[in-house]
Order: sequence, then structure tokens, then C-alpha cells
Amino acid sequence: MNILGIETSCDETAISIIETFGTFPNDFDIKIRANLVLSQIALHQKYGGVFPSLAKREHSKNLVPLFKQALETAELLVTKEKVHLETPQLEDLKSLLIREPEMWEQFEKEILKIEKPKIDAIAVTMGPGLEPALWTGINFARALSAFWKIPILPINHMEGHIFSSLLKEKKGLRSFTQKSNDGTSNEITATKQEKFSAYKLESIKFPAIALLVSGGHTELVLAQNWFEYKVIGATRDDAVGEAFDKVARILGLPYPGGPEISRLAKILRDSLSDLKNSESRNNPIGIKLPRPMINSNDYDFSFSGIKTAVLYMVKKIPELTNEIKNEIALEFENAVVETLVKKTTKAVLDKNALSLIAGGGVIANRKLRDELEKMTKETKIELFVPIISHSTDNALMIALACGARIEKYGLTKERGDIIASGSLTIDGKK
Ligand code: KG4
Ligand code: ZN
Repeated sequence: MNILGIETSCDETAISIIETFGTFPNDFDIKIRANLVLSQIALHQKYGGVFPSLAKREHSKNLVPLFKQALETAELLVTKEKVHLETPQLEDLKSLLIREPEMWEQFEKEILKIEKPKIDAIAVTMGPGLEPALWTGINFARALSAFWKIPILPINHMEGHIFSSLLKEKKGLRSFTQKSNDGTSNEITATKQEKFSAYKLESIKFPAIALLVSGGHTELVLAQNWFEYKVIGATRDDAVGEAFDKVARILGLPYPGGPEISRLAKILRDSLSDLKNSESRNNPIGIKLPRPMINSNDYDFSFSGIKTAVLYMVKKIPELTNEIKNEIALEFENAVVETLVKKTTKAVLDKNALSLIAGGGVIANRKLRDELEKMTKETKIELFVPIISHSTDNALMIALACGARIEKYGLTKERGDIIASGSLTIDGKK
């Protein structure tokens, strides 16, 4: 089955096309035919964070060309003479993109010239995220769906992050038996597969704990089975990625702050790594930040206090030298990672988890990965993390979650009525 994924929840416009094979969950293989991410980071940098109306405008402008490029990469692009649509049909399509006039212009010019591609389902992020940004992806998906009569499935962005962590690159390629819609099967030749990366879905043991850490979320989720989620803990104020971004801004570092802070922390950590004394290794100049809620008897987090502590500290420092910046970065990273790992360990032990799934943009952080690896070795459970390039937002994870859902629940009805939900939760609770 071929699935188109569309992701526009924040500042990445992303389109992916995957092909799925086999049976979910134990023998589920994935071929990535296209996985394109157009980052708007450079545009948002001057605001020090994501500016929603700018994000919406950029998604609107970029979705059609990016989609066309994805079809081409996936070898699914066939162009023809522009189809002539009768006025009512054209007006129907246009009405779906009434809020995105620029996208409609491109849609009419480009998409009406494309032969219906071999895509069985469209997966689109419906939330959580910035609503104006989410709407652009949803409206685009609805227009494609209406034009080509392809069903749409709305996907939760955080579930996407979970699936991103469960993708494992296949070593040896074998020939797949493709399941087609009518139940007949046909062999795909090995040469064809080797052009695209082949992955499989990890088989995980339940109960599982998912630690989801991104720019908008910090959550501990208990999964008793596939798609059965319960949020057992969350941040009470800033998300961890947001804290990285805000501290970076205080230190005069560019957006997004996560990679910058970890880069500075690494400089100091590496230069101190041969020191024996661990106290002096972590704290050579003596900066100490709080670890809010680290010992509280729940699974919640709080990061705004650490950020405020950095702000007051920086105000008192006459000159913010590179050495001091490195030290603040190191201590901040240590404080955040310690807190995340402590609460995650508590959740793993209390819930007798057999697997830990860690996902979201902040899981690109090396220190966090290392500490989670250590912890899961000690607790003897399995850890699943995405490869670095699949950690931050992408549409592959959206297509993948959709593929798994279709395998489990089937693709029964067309969803033309999807609405964006900025505060969508993974367990359906407010
Ligand atoms: O999942 P994501 O791409 O977008 C959201 O859904 O929010 O996460 C983006 C967040 C940003 O706050 C960014 O600073 C953070 O992930 N991030 C990192 C690292 N790379 C990205 N945080 C810490 N260390 C990193 N290496
Ligand atoms: Zn994300």
C-alpha cells in the first residue's frame, strides 16, 4: 500500500511517500519512497521562535511544489494534458482552498496536470500544533482527496513521533510480496527495492512507556498495547524543547536552541572529560541550576523555573563570555536530562514497563540518548529511539502511523471533515 504523509504542524513543511508490506505489527516492512522536509528555520530565526502566520504562509506556498517533488522522487509522477473540470467540480475544489488562494493558484496550474498517482491513502497531521499551520496541510490533503478520490486519515503528531522511534533500517533486502487492494499479490523485483531505503517496524513488548519531548510537548505516556495510550505525566509549564529554545535566546544563541545548547555543552564536556572528579567535571566554575519537581511523587515536569534561574544568573553576570555560556549550557543540559531520566525511570519501574520509546525533536540530544541508554540497560528493558534525522518533525512518521492504523483498523470511510486541533492529546483527554 502506498501512503502519502503531509505534516505542517509547526515550522517544517514535510511530505513523504511510503510503501508498506506484510502484516502489522510483527512483520511490517516499510519502503521510504520519498521523505522531504522543507525547514522554515532560517525565516523564523529573526523572531527567536516560530511566527504562526509566517509558518502558514510558507506552508501554503511550498506544499504544491514539495508534493510534486515527492511524487517525482517516489517515481510516481506522470504528467498529462491539464484535465478540464466542469465548473461545479472546479468550484468545489476551489472552495476547499478558499483560505489559501496562493495554494489554489498552484493547485490549478500544477496538480490538474498530474495523472492520479498510485497512492492508496493520505495521512495528514490534525494536531497538536499551530492551528493556522495545521489547516494548510489539512486543506491541501482534502483538495487532493477530493480531486483524486483518495481516502484521508487524520493523524496525531505525537503518535507520529512514537512511530518514528520504531522504524528500524533493514540490513539485508529481500523481495517483498506486495499486498494490493484486491487481495492479489505480486512480487516487487529486488532491483526496484534497492533504489529506496527499506525499513521494518520494531516489534515491541508491552506495557511500554513513551517519553515524548519536543518544542511543544513533554509527556510520559503509558501504552498497554498498540494505539492504547494514557498520558501519566506532562509538563506543568514550558515544554522541554521550548526551555532549550528560551535559554538559547537568553544566551544570545540562534533558534532552534536545542542543537546550539548541546553543541556548547559538548565543547565543555569534552574538554573536561579527562578530569577524574565528577563534581568538578560537571561544575568547574560553580554554576548550579535547580531541578524542579525532580523528587515529586508523580510523573510531571516543570522547566520554566530552570529557565528563569538562567535569566537571573545572566542578568547578574557583567560579561557573558563564551566560557560562561558553555558552562550554563552544560549545567542546563545536565539539569534537564537528569529530571527527564529520573521521572522516566520512575514511570518505567512503577508501571513494570518492558519497553521505553523515546521520541520528539529533543531526543536528537546526545546526552539524553546516552543517559536513557544507560538507564534501560540497568533496568533491563528495551529502548527505542529514532535515528537523529527522524527525530525532528517529518512526514514519514505521519505516513507510518497511518500505515499501521490502516493495517489494524482498516480504511473504511473517507474523512473529508477533518478539523485542525491545536491542543489534540494522544489519549483523547483534555
Ligand atoms: O519535534 P520537533 O521537531 O517539533 C515539535 O513538534 O515541537 O521538536 C523541536 C524541538 C525544538 O525545541 C528544538 O530546540 C529541539 O526540538 N531540539 C533539541 C535538539 N534538536 C532539536 N533539543 C535538545 N537537543 C537537541 N540536539
Ligand atoms: Zn514534533
